[in-house]
Amino acid sequence: MIEGTEGLFARTEEFPNSLAQARLVALVGLDDLIDRLVTDAVALLDPTVIQQWSRAMHGEIIPAINALADRTPLLVFAGDVGVGKTEVAEVIGQAIAIRTDTDVTLYPLSLTARGRGAVGEMTTLLTRAFERITADFARARRSDGTASSLGVLLVDEADALAQSRELAQMHHEDRAGVNALLRGIDGMRIDRLPVLTILCTNRIDALDPAVQRRAATVEVFERPTHAQRAALLTRLLSGTKLSPADIDALASATGENAGRTYSYTYSDLRQRLVPEIILAAYRQGVAVDSVIARDVLARTLPTRPFEAERR
Ligand SMILES: Nc1ncnc2c1ncn2[C@@H]1O[C@H](COP(=O)(O)OP(=O)(O)O)[C@@H](O)[C@H]1O
Ligand SMILES: [Mg+2]
Repeated sequence: MIEGTEGLFARTEEFPNSLAQARLVALVGLDDLIDRLVTDAVALLDPTVIQQWSRAMHGEIIPAINALADRTPLLVFAGDVGVGKTEVAEVIGQAIAIRTDTDVTLYPLSLTARGRGAVGEMTTLLTRAFERITADFARARRSDGTASSLGVLLVDEADALAQSRELAQMHHEDRAGVNALLRGIDGMRIDRLPVLTILCTNRIDALDPAVQRRAATVEVFERPTHAQRAALLTRLLSGTKLSPADIDALASATGENAGRTYSYTYSDLRQRLVPEIILAAYRQGVAVDSVIARDVLARTLPTRPFEAERR
């Protein structure tokens, strides 16, 4: 069944807003990454920024600037489940809004939740999403090239596209989902819409090469390092009886070890380990201490990477 555009996006969100700011601040160890992504995004969305730089550095707008203007404002976020792709994609609009002092609207589209299975359904979903965004931003570009408002289209769980491609081949149909995506992002580039598209995938190898080629940046998110795990655990477990040394031991225990080539992900720590520790202490009616933490850790294992990525 084809739906109207009201139900198209999970929920659009306007930046800046205080909730998004809190989520942005809660991210641990990603300051440099987010800073770099915002710089890239702003350069892709607003050509006047690069032009100003060129004038300042070279005394004129050098020809190479034009090549840059033709780049697709597409970022691909890749990496294991639980490493922060969706979270960063959902809050980067906040950082862009602050940096540019311009209102940003997020349009989140999850392909897994909506279009799984039926190839035609996903194609329709993508086509309608691009139509809606084109309508919303058709007049957002001012005559001097700057934008009165910016958009972020988040295509999350884009692995579903690869699945649709495999399915389509099975049914000797055409690569309809991927083509709808390519048509959409190419159309936005040609129309110079001030909209950044972010595509998240857990399996970069399964993403269509034509999509990858268009990406201005392919950012591979990694599992947290020891320092990042320690920083996150310190934040999440502040006020408990865990000492800095206990936290450091937990950070070590959640890293790679002799029997395991991968560490805990951000979500393993934030959505599984820490809540389990709290619940365990609560059930026993005691304070959170290192004994409980170690006990829960022993039965809370990290998410395994995908086979393809471990080879
Ligand atoms: N750098 C980080 N600091 C703190 N929490 C994080 C970080 N990255 C991810 N998380 C948390 O981990 C969980 C999973 O992140 P998510 O973005 O959904 O992962 P992915 O989309 O890569 O599977 C979320 O609760 C998110 O807030
Ligand atoms: Mg995700």
